[in-house]
Amino acid sequence: MSEKVVAILGATGVVGTQMLQCLEERDFPVSRLVPLASARSAGKTLTFRGEEVAIQEARPEAFEGVDIVLGAAGDDIAKALLPEAAARGAVCVDNSHAFRLDPDVPLVVPEINAGDIANHPRNIIANPNCATIIGLVPTYPLHKAAGLRRMIVSTYQAASGAGMPGLRELQRETSVLANGGEMGDTSPFAYQLAANLIPQIGSFKDEGYTSEEWKMQNEGRKIMHLPEVRVNCTCVRVPVMRSHSESITCEFDRPLTPDQAREILAAAPGVKVVDDPATLSYPMPLDTSDQDLVYVGRIRRDLSAPEGVSSLTFWCCGDQIRKGAATNAVQIAEYLV
Ligand SMILES: NC(=O)c1ccc[n+]([C@@H]2O[C@H](COP(=O)([O-])OP(=O)(O)OC[C@H]3O[C@@H](n4cnc5c(N)ncnc54)[C@H](OP(=O)(O)O)[C@@H]3O)[C@@H](O)[C@H]2O)c1
Repeated sequence: MSEKVVAILGATGVVGTQMLQCLEERDFPVSRLVPLASARSAGKTLTFRGEEVAIQEARPEAFEGVDIVLGAAGDDIAKALLPEAAARGAVCVDNSHAFRLDPDVPLVVPEINAGDIANHPRNIIANPNCATIIGLVPTYPLHKAAGLRRMIVSTYQAASGAGMPGLRELQRETSVLANGGEMGDTSPFAYQLAANLIPQIGSFKDEGYTSEEWKMQNEGRKIMHLPEVRVNCTCVRVPVMRSHSESITCEFDRPLTPDQAREILAAAPGVKVVDDPATLSYPMPLDTSDQDLVYVGRIRRDLSAPEGVSSLTFWCCGDQIRKGAATNAVQIAEYLV
């Protein structure tokens, strides 16, 4: 693989920091790293492969000579800066929502639709929403076997899904609960998250569903090339530091037993089956944090399915900072080189 100049837009955030680690771990061929962040971080340094690298303010000129940009900033910053990078010849792999549904931008989970990466006329490739990636990695192999018709999903999403501010806020609230003190302002969350659950992620949109809940259907349709698939989703923020969990019920065109599903998932890329009720073995966020596989368990028949309808229920957990963001982006970049 030829070496590339790689910029990380948002290098100081939760996802950007993880990207640095993934590039190192996967021995990505980086000839020069260009860490970019806000003016607040400019001049500070971070460590890459044992060397201190200065963080630069993210401005259009910073993308001169860059081959690949890994985007780890918010929607507005991605919209403003990635077209500037693309115009200067860089290929951008973006984690924000800004370009995901653009028909000229592939939306990719490599285990599902790596073939879409090659066609990127805007020089931008989008990384899907983190809960969408974690849910689809195990769902797609079942779809290939039995034909996915419909999904009912409840997510249990970690505080770090709201970035560094979310992670720090849960740490602060946990400390207030343990040591006493004023709970005070709970932003970025609308309410206290510690010892609580918040059944809202994103803003409220059509039909009473949130922006996060619409992503599972809209992005899932594009990634799996299934324009008709229907998804009913409830997204909940939970007081977990990292790793999203999901309860998923899938309805299929063709029969699929829990044993068949277990066998298919055991052979599926990016998936680890942890499913033995006898030994209380099932996926949990503590076990799936800081690694790249999506763990699946609690695989069972959907007892509510009408007679003759093929439907299974399962539970999955995966690290949304790694497979839900940084690792998925670096995997896409590996296809580019
Ligand atoms: N967290 C997750 O689990 C997750 C998963 C999937 C996708 N995503 C998406 O990934 C992106 C990054 O999320 P995150 O969780 O890593 O957020 P984060 O921890 O809040 O980090 C945000 C990054 O953006 C930078 N930034 C802020 N304002 C900027 C500006 N004006 N110009 C340039 N850079 C600026 C910050 O730099 P400073 O430190 O200088 O402010 C920081 O590096 C978002 O689009 C998010 O939706 C996040």
